[in-house]
Amino acid sequence: MSYKVEVDKHTCIGCAACEAACPENFEVKEQNEGEFKGEIKATEKSKVVKELGKNKEAAEVCPVNCIKIEMT
Ligand code: F3S
Repeated sequence: MSYKVEVDKHTCIGCAACEAACPENFEVKEQNEGEFKGEIKATEKSKVVKELGKNKEAAEVCPVNCIKIEMT
């Protein structure tokens, strides 16, 4: 089984809790003019992972629930 992990950037407020929980897959980057958003590392859109690991923790700590995890 694998999981697709993505960040809804429209909802993200850039709080960086995801990066703290799961630095392997999340990072907060400046988008434009001082606006910061969480992103999936490397792809910027979504990432398919075989094991949920800390991605689940990242989704749970996000204060605006904008990290989506789907089974694929
Ligand atoms: Fe954004 Fe939530 Fe991370 S607000 S920076 S996706 S913890």
